[in-house]
Amino acid sequence: MMMHGYTKMQVVWLLLLLTSSSSSWHSGHGSDSDVQCLKDLKQSLVDPKGVLESWVFTEHNTDGDICQFAGVGCWRPDDNKVLSLSLGNLGLEGPFPEGLQLCRSLTILDLSGNKFSGPLPERISDQLPYITYLDLSNNSFSGEIPAGLGNMTYLNVLALQHNQFDGGIPAQLSNLSRLVSFSVAENSLSGPVPDSLQRFPPANFTGNPRLCGPPLDKKCKKRFRLRIHIRPIRIHLRLRRINDASSIGAAAGFVVGFVVAFYFPHRFLFCRSLRPYIVRVCG
Ligand SMILES: *[C@@H]1O[C@H](CO)[C@@H](O)[C@H](O)[C@H]1NC(C)=O
Ligand SMILES: *[C@@H]1O[C@H](CO)[C@@H](O)[C@H](O)[C@H]1NC(C)=O
Ligand SMILES: *[C@@H]1O[C@H](CO)[C@@H](O)[C@H](O)[C@H]1NC(C)=O
Ligand SMILES: *[C@@H]1O[C@H](CO)[C@@H](O)[C@H](O)[C@H]1NC(C)=O
Repeated sequence: MMMHGYTKMQVVWLLLLLTSSSSSWHSGHGSDSDVQCLKDLKQSLVDPKGVLESWVFTEHNTDGDICQFAGVGCWRPDDNKVLSLSLGNLGLEGPFPEGLQLCRSLTILDLSGNKFSGPLPERISDQLPYITYLDLSNNSFSGEIPAGLGNMTYLNVLALQHNQFDGGIPAQLSNLSRLVSFSVAENSLSGPVPDSLQRFPPANFTGNPRLCGPPLDKKCKKRFRLRIHIRPIRIHLRLRRINDASSIGAAAGFVVGFVVAFYFPHRFLFCRSLRPYIVRVCG
């Protein structure tokens, strides 16, 4: 098993290295795509403390210069190929950055302890296909945890704690077979914890009052069964009450009487003096 996993990892590593070297041979300045990625990222962020002022883009970025930027790690120091973005606790604000797919070999993304807000993109795995480490903790991200996270095959660490995520934990996260660290503590999640995530400690699920089932102590209410049992009882009670009052007969009699009186007043009325009035109403 270990050998098998190790070989797979080596293959991925090799593939990534091959892509990075071949593209740097073909284009003059490492990866223009990665440079554009960081340009877009800087532009999309509100940076009140000016921590990204060291990110200075020149007309011709030479190989390796973006690797000197604060928080940027490269696969090789002389190649503009971004391996990691470590932007924790910098006071950054904004939505989840778009355009990260331009950092084609990004494997580590740490945005923790900032003021990011809004939902995560549903197709987040298309943007970050090789990600192994994703730390979005301690921000203000909201909305549902995207099921697409389950497509991030290489994910080892997923930290979503201290945000405002709601809805359920998507069952697709069970697909993350390499996950060794996982937390969704302190959000607004609800419903049961998917089976294969129950191996993580309870502390990594706390702070979600409506989350239930193992590993948490709180039991899940079996809502569906409860509904099925209650409905027939309600209907039963209503029918009986109506029967008791004999009001079905009374109501039906009233409707029939009204219709007959309206359309056949000559058969119904005994008082002749009222007839002209009725006919005028019908005409
Ligand atoms: C969250 O981040 C802020 C700084 O942005 C820090 O002051 C605070 O202690 C962090 N909270 C947690 C629970 O990590
Ligand atoms: C996840 O992967 C499956 C299979 O490759 C694909 O059909 C699906 O559209 C993907 N979902 C998202 C949200 O990326
Ligand atoms: C993810 O898991 C679901 C079942 O929970 C499965 O149907 C789907 O094919 C899996 N997707 C991928 C991309 O492995
Ligand atoms: C539990 O969450 C913490 C972060 O709060 C993390 O450091 C740790 O790795 C998680 N444990 C597991 C087993 O996932």
